[in-house]
Amino acid sequence: MNKVRIMVVGAGQRGVGYAAYFECYPSEGEIMAVCEPQDRLRHTFGDRFSIPEERRFADWREVLDKPRLADAVFICTQDKGHRDPAVLLADKGYHIMLEKPMAPDLQSCLDIHEAAERNGIILAVCHVLRYTPFNRKIKEMLDKGAIGRIRSIQLLEPVGYWHQAHSFVRGNWRNEGQSTPMLLAKSCHDIDLINYFMPGRCVRVSSFGDLSYFIGANQPEGAADRCTDCPAEIEGSCAYSALKIYLRDRKYSLDKWPVNVLTPEAAPGTVLKALQTGPYGRCVFACDNDVVDHQVVNMEFSGGATASFTMSGFTKSGSRELLIMGDQGTLRCTDQGIDYFDFLNDRISNIEVDIGDGLITSGHGGGDIGLIREFLSAVRSSDPSRVISGPKVSLESHLIVFAAERARRKGSVEMVTEKEI
Ligand SMILES: NC(=O)c1ccc[n+]([C@@H]2O[C@H](COP(=O)([O-])OP(=O)(O)OC[C@H]3O[C@@H](n4cnc5c(N)ncnc54)[C@H](O)[C@@H]3O)[C@@H](O)[C@H]2O)c1
Repeated sequence: MNKVRIMVVGAGQRGVGYAAYFECYPSEGEIMAVCEPQDRLRHTFGDRFSIPEERRFADWREVLDKPRLADAVFICTQDKGHRDPAVLLADKGYHIMLEKPMAPDLQSCLDIHEAAERNGIILAVCHVLRYTPFNRKIKEMLDKGAIGRIRSIQLLEPVGYWHQAHSFVRGNWRNEGQSTPMLLAKSCHDIDLINYFMPGRCVRVSSFGDLSYFIGANQPEGAADRCTDCPAEIEGSCAYSALKIYLRDRKYSLDKWPVNVLTPEAAPGTVLKALQTGPYGRCVFACDNDVVDHQVVNMEFSGGATASFTMSGFTKSGSRELLIMGDQGTLRCTDQGIDYFDFLNDRISNIEVDIGDGLITSGHGGGDIGLIREFLSAVRSSDPSRVISGPKVSLESHLIVFAAERARRKGSVEMVTEKEI
């Protein structure tokens, strides 16, 4: 098996996570270079993956005037930093695994799609849910006609109260101006999954949703703007208290996500310091957040099938709940498995899915590893068909998201097109 040579752009949470694959499967590839502006992250990453000093760069632009350093690049920068490296590294002939969303705006997504086509490279957008054994099983059953023709899909994404507070109130994806709207940041996975399962293309959408709870008006009287300064009786009765979420609820897993986002040195003292000084210690009612905390999207597909999607921050943090309704049966998919109901026999059966070992399933139910495997295999065999989240289908999903956001803002029904109408 040929080793695929990889360059990582952005050695943050995702970049490190993907690179760790090669510690488990060293025969499949090798990390050749890293681009990361934060000195500590760049050197920790470089040392961990044995990258020589001369191939550790502070910015991906530094490699543009060099001969290609690898076969492929993993682009794991923040949402607004995807378009330029994707286009310019595609022009250098690198195959690309690109974190979702492709980009925060329509034109940048079109540019990335066009650059991939123009250069004939393999580009996989990290729509990891397409690659989980669970969702592959569902797709296989749909393709075999297990429930006849799909007439309707219902999908719930229960983001979870503390995950909502962590990422979308206090954290990196809280503010549209600094990152992207919620539907793009979090739920582009869900819209993409519906688009993946549904035959035909999405034609038009409507959407409602807003930021209803995590606003200044809901801050209890007497509460402080930082949890560590809040009176004990108010802090102790707040489900969203940072002291509760990061220290009391997670006291035995300080070195894991989400606490390791606050500080790389996992210890009660360092976490407390991060809460006293950093963004994750802020009162959820006193942040600079503006992304929605709940949203619904209704979708109509060619052929008349419909789908409805709900994202909510007001849930237990949990698994997606999916109901696919065909004219010959249904698939109800939850963390309890897949319940297949067949109308002809009027019978329900539970479909078992082998999701592999604990390590493999750790990232997005096996989606992270499934994606890397297919991407490496596509690069190795020069066969883009192994990648089921290529530029064309990913662009289609992003078009739906952009149309849904237009619909939500305008209160309209929007056509899904490549133009902002
Ligand atoms: N596929 C998924 O399920 C999934 C899950 C979470 C996050 N994401 C996406 O992954 C991306 C990265 O998220 P993260 O949590 O790893 O973020 P992060 O902030 O931890 O990592 C991003 C890294 O990029 C680096 N960077 C900034 N400018 C750079 C430059 N010019 N050159 C090289 N590196 C640069 C930053 O210093 C940072 O270390 C985001 O787009 C996010 O939305 C995807």
